[in-house]
Amino acid sequence: MTSRVIPVAPFTLTVFGATGDLARRKLIPALFHRDLDGQLPDDATIIGVSRRALSDDQFRAFARQALSDHIPASELEGPEVDRFLARLSYVAADADADGGWPELAQRVEAFPDHIPVYYLATAPHLFGPICERLGKYGLSRNGRVVIEKPIGKDLKSAVALNEQIGRIFPEDRVYRIDHYLGKETVQNLMALRFANALFEPLWNNAHIDHVQITVAEALGVEERAGYYDTAGAMRDMVQNHILQLLCLVAMEPPASLDADAVRDEKLKVLRALKPIDDQNMAAVTVRGQYRAGASAGGAVSGYLDELGSSTSHTETFVAVKAEVENWRWAGVPFYLRTGKRLASRVSEIVVGFKPVPHSVFDANVGPIESNRLVIRLQPDEGVKLWLMIKDPGPGGIRLTHVPLDMSFAKAFKVRNPDAYERLILDVVRGNQTLFMRRDEVEAAWKWVDPILQAWRGAKEPPRPYTAGTWGPSAAIALIERDGRTWLEDGA
Ligand code: BG6
Repeated sequence: MTSRVIPVAPFTLTVFGATGDLARRKLIPALFHRDLDGQLPDDATIIGVSRRALSDDQFRAFARQALSDHIPASELEGPEVDRFLARLSYVAADADADGGWPELAQRVEAFPDHIPVYYLATAPHLFGPICERLGKYGLSRNGRVVIEKPIGKDLKSAVALNEQIGRIFPEDRVYRIDHYLGKETVQNLMALRFANALFEPLWNNAHIDHVQITVAEALGVEERAGYYDTAGAMRDMVQNHILQLLCLVAMEPPASLDADAVRDEKLKVLRALKPIDDQNMAAVTVRGQYRAGASAGGAVSGYLDELGSSTSHTETFVAVKAEVENWRWAGVPFYLRTGKRLASRVSEIVVGFKPVPHSVFDANVGPIESNRLVIRLQPDEGVKLWLMIKDPGPGGIRLTHVPLDMSFAKAFKVRNPDAYERLILDVVRGNQTLFMRRDEVEAAWKWVDPILQAWRGAKEPPRPYTAGTWGPSAAIALIERDGRTWLEDGA
């Protein structure tokens, strides 16, 4: 198997928030991996910016530590580490003051032929001020800006932020990251749907019974409780990652993989979502909050303990029965669920097909189970297609349900790159296909806002669930009322 990577042009990447968590855990390791694979052009340059006063060498020492914390030692043995660190330099600058900005401008302008990319790995309230200063110092002229979620906390604040950024950067140079779109298996969803003739004719309400999207985490909120309490699972996961997955499952085939062709189709799905408000909220949503329990064999605290507060109505679990109101999907529920401190870390999409219309088999051959396509995003990325076959052996026909099981690790034996590796270089390539367009973000908030509002108006707090379980029993009832069950772990 040959690897075909699209080369990138020389770039100067400025990372704001360069000493923060995202830079340390994700961006620096991702850039190193691309460099290790020979994908960074010789003179690609990375400038770290934060408020801390650091020399270039101190920043390089910080980056070296980030690499040893997040990359296996065996990959850090060669000369590539020093080559990578030599690309780094550092400028201390504050989003809210002018100090450091002229120096930053000088460093960026030292490479007039490079593509300037500004990655805002900072707290969201700094996105606006940083963009303003990029404008003020002439850095936005041909630059591209990358921002992370949360993009606002509701429609109004998202619109305000998008406007603020839009005054400085045109939409075709704004890259809103949803790191789920950079995950290998999420991309595979497009390959499965549009590079196989097999699925698309069946991909509609005539053949699909329902879809489940689960993004379950075993970890709690831990040291992020401060941020998390202002967000909750709906804003943190559903508004972005889960709705993006839903869009990729439900969208019409785009004419091409051109960024706007794909994003136009996703937008139509978001706009077709059946509204949920105080009228139907109780019937189609469940929110929960974890209490103390057990995870990975050890006792773990409840959410309120982690938060250090005796009360909070923030949900750490959400289940929603969503519906896409269009011809293709009318009558097909999309059951969505996500939560912290669940029984295991697993993200997967299950497409459940309708049962056969008539059985030609005797009742004693066993039940005929419906086909299912399970796309496992993590861990153990892969695809399973569950089929009925004849149980081997003599003595008449007995049926059994088995998966055609493709594990990517076994099939390809290559390292699965982190989503950020792909996404950062897509920014340099100028490819926005895997980034959220402004109208998508706003359409997602438009659907989410009334749900949050209905929850606020409801008297009862989120339902408690024990850490290490699959969430509140009401989430099980949500799907079982419809005669279906949640499917876990590739089942
Ligand atoms: C982030 C959320 O966007 O995604 C986190 O803010 C969550 O709360 C994380 O833990 C999950 O990402 P992944 O890639 O580990 O599934």
